[in-house]
Amino acid sequence: MDKALKFYITTPIYYVNARPHIGHAYTTLVCDAIARRKRMLGVDTFLLTGTDEHGQKIERSATAAGKTPQQFADEVSVAFRALFDRMNIKYDDFIRTTEPRHQQGVQELFKRLQKKGHIYKGTYTGQYCVFDELYVDAVGPGAPCPECGRPTETVSEDNYFFKLSAFADKLLKLYEEQPDFIRPETRRNEVIAFVKSGLRDLSISRSTFKWGIPVPGDRKHVIYVWLDALSNYCTAIGFGSEDKAAQEKFKHYWPADVHMIGKEIIRFHCVYWPAFLMAAEIPLPKSVIAHGWLLFEESKMSNDALRYFLLRDIVFGQDGSFSFDALVQRYNSDLANDLGNLSSRTLTMIARYFDGTVPYPSAMAAHKKADDTVKQQAEIAISEFGQLFDDYQFSRALEAAWSLVSSVNKYLVEQEPWIVAEREGQENRARLATILYTSAEALRIVTALVHPVLPESTANIWQQLGLGDITKFDLASLKWGQLPLSGKLGKITPVFPRADKSAVERMTQMEQERNSTNALAPSAAPAPTATTPQPGSPAPPVTQAQPAAAADGKISIDDFLKVELRVGLVKSAERVKGADRLLRLEVDIGSEVRQVVAGIALAYEPEALVGRKVVLVANLQPRKLRGLESNGMIVAASVGEEGKPVLAGFLEDVPVGAKLK
Ligand code: MSP
Repeated sequence: MDKALKFYITTPIYYVNARPHIGHAYTTLVCDAIARRKRMLGVDTFLLTGTDEHGQKIERSATAAGKTPQQFADEVSVAFRALFDRMNIKYDDFIRTTEPRHQQGVQELFKRLQKKGHIYKGTYTGQYCVFDELYVDAVGPGAPCPECGRPTETVSEDNYFFKLSAFADKLLKLYEEQPDFIRPETRRNEVIAFVKSGLRDLSISRSTFKWGIPVPGDRKHVIYVWLDALSNYCTAIGFGSEDKAAQEKFKHYWPADVHMIGKEIIRFHCVYWPAFLMAAEIPLPKSVIAHGWLLFEESKMSNDALRYFLLRDIVFGQDGSFSFDALVQRYNSDLANDLGNLSSRTLTMIARYFDGTVPYPSAMAAHKKADDTVKQQAEIAISEFGQLFDDYQFSRALEAAWSLVSSVNKYLVEQEPWIVAEREGQENRARLATILYTSAEALRIVTALVHPVLPESTANIWQQLGLGDITKFDLASLKWGQLPLSGKLGKITPVFPRADKSAVERMTQMEQERNSTNALAPSAAPAPTATTPQPGSPAPPVTQAQPAAAADGKISIDDFLKVELRVGLVKSAERVKGADRLLRLEVDIGSEVRQVVAGIALAYEPEALVGRKVVLVANLQPRKLRGLESNGMIVAASVGEEGKPVLAGFLEDVPVGAKLK
């Protein structure tokens, strides 16, 4: 083996507040494959993985589990190791941040930074996200974290600060001179933009909790968990050790050749970490490679998605097959779209129009038959769900619950509370109150019913409805009309999932990509319903737009190529007055911005479309809809019996105006 050649690769170290899942396995697996190949090539290879065990998040999880942080960390760390062993990961070391060798190394690094004048003491007041272990740009108590959407806490503390602001130019120079420092290119550009937007000094100690490595010489403070965690890459191979062999090892393997990470922790690895190292005058790692996420991340989609799928898609008693596609589809349509939409629309509107207080439904003039229908449907759902579920017919029980969800979503679209809210007068106000009460009460009922299937997300919705702990609710008492009037809603956060945009969007995009490929690949005979015009949309489907179809329904490539398909960017979107199903979009297709009227309003909120890339049939004759000229057709899959449109999109970034063929 040629010892002159060495390769040091690291995985991120995993937080012990979550049980290991497939997403964690993914990063580690990728590194293992790379390391195995290097070894086979005769390279002296070192693969490091481990667990990240300090911080407030972990302290709190431990308390909630009735354990000390150390006990808690011990258990979960073992679980990570066991997972990696089961997966046949051949790691060379497994570092835990609670080990003495690590603590000593981190303190050493801190002292070095101090000695070289990069640390000062100051006071900081700001919004802190416990989940991301980060001060964030958010204003006011409870303001949502811009990274993850969770409520932040206002924290004021005397802290040690690292002079990060002094490193902006050096970092930019690094990215410039070593273009491979951050890969892929898109991530590199994001980091450059972030640094160019200005760097503030970084608070690197905490005094509001205890679970961490003490700041040397000041036991009131523990070292910021990211400075602690990042240092593992050095401490694991001997940094800060007094032992000669360990020091040699550090000299031999450092700098790391690759830090493999997920894309959400780029800032820490590509900005903070190189800045710490520059300040401490330690050589920089050669590259940081960021990968995307697997779609089913525990904290993003939670176990609920799988639980729901297994009980909804598989008819209990019969053999069932599991497919990732089907799981994604179910998640998108039933959870992210149907229930997620119902909950976020209802709660956000109550927050917006009634200051977060459940409004009184009113009798008389503001009452409509549609309100009674929702109530009846809710009563039917309670009884049908119960009977079917108790008869082990889980799938049909969930269908019954979702029929209520769909009805209420439809009710909202028909009653248009957002338009009623714009009208003046007592009566409109009373009408708005009735609609939102009705919808919130139906949401409460469905949430209680499906709690056994979706324990996590329903507990969350229940809290948001201001109803406290759902596990204490007496299901036997469930009936219409129990939602406390004037009750105060809890904090509103996205339920499916925290990755509000990203996870759902990624999943939707993946599904759409598949759909659009199926629909449009010239070599594959397209399914007849794969691309359908949306109700009210201006053109016949692509698959039927071929005049010269052969008797077997196949068309020539030339016929297909007559259809001009382009990537468009939605610049603006709004509802068309008086047309429930229509949205007016302005779509940039590179050469021009087109007005398009699309029948997708039942499936998409206009705001959600702005900034999204779509596929446009660009060479259709213009057509007028509700007096508006539509210049193109947005391509969508038509899903389910109701033909719900799901927009085609791309998993990778594509330039606006690019032609599809
Ligand atoms: N503890 C920090 C990292 C500190 S490194 C000095 C952390 N831990 S984590 O457990 O939340 O995530 C560790 C890694 O797992 C991240 O790279 C993250 O992207 C990855 N994954 C977690 N879930 C994932 C998926 N579902 N898919 C792919 N990778 C994901 O962040």
